[in-house]
Amino acid sequence: MQVNRITGVFGAEVIVGDLGALDDGGLAELRALVCEHEFVVVPNQSLTALEQVEFSHRLGPPADSPFIEPSPDHPEVIKVLKEVRDGGAFNFGGAWHSDFSFQAAPPSFTVLHAIDIPPYGGDTLWSSMTAAWRVLSPEKQEELSRIFAVHTARDAYSPRMQAIHSGLSSMTIVCDESANDTRVHPLVTTHPETGKQVLFFNRGYVRDLVGFDDPDAKARLLEWLHAHTTDARFTLRHRWTAGDVAIWDNRSTQHYALNDYAGFRRELHRTTIAGTVPVR
Ligand code: SIN
Repeated sequence: MQVNRITGVFGAEVIVGDLGALDDGGLAELRALVCEHEFVVVPNQSLTALEQVEFSHRLGPPADSPFIEPSPDHPEVIKVLKEVRDGGAFNFGGAWHSDFSFQAAPPSFTVLHAIDIPPYGGDTLWSSMTAAWRVLSPEKQEELSRIFAVHTARDAYSPRMQAIHSGLSSMTIVCDESANDTRVHPLVTTHPETGKQVLFFNRGYVRDLVGFDDPDAKARLLEWLHAHTTDARFTLRHRWTAGDVAIWDNRSTQHYALNDYAGFRRELHRTTIAGTVPVR
């Protein structure tokens, strides 16, 4: 496999012939590359939805994907789709988040296959939460290591958020009360495959911190965590080309799909792979 690093911090382009034809050794190598580089893009692929599902199964069992109706023919595939007629409607994934981090065991990897890409715009940003952790002073690391974060989908998928999703005519997103559930994860986690320390934060789903008496101090820390973990130093921006297959590690990154392509169609097929309970 040819590996071309994308930034000095994280991310790599990996050249392989046909993802669907990788043998077990190649698959293990690719998985290790995703864990190491945290975001990997494999260009020039043309997987059918079924082939994408079969490839994803080789990374692990499918994750549970609440709130978003999957493709009717392929219940493990979400069509991330914005039509020309949807104009400037809010896009799927249009806020910093790590996929479904509000679950007890959030997904390990996400696979996103670009099918139809606007002539300009529609890029996606990722940020490395291991890089955001590494630069901190030992004192700051010690302080953050004692904190637990409250993850919830309430500001994304509770019933009051339904209207924001209804601008996407070809995606069915069904908000419900279960989005108000909360889940506590350590703010600093240990990646289960690399052993790296991760500042496991994303503003989309981390809406509170446990055990703060001073609400102002808590609000300031939440703001700081967002600003720090999305600082330009720890990010990369991917310009999609149809045929790209991006694979990222949700345990060490967060991402944000830009919404600057009103009047163009954008379609990508997403599968997610089950993960484990985040631990320190
Ligand atoms: C997502 O958040 O899964 C969607 C990302 C994208 O559309 O680029």
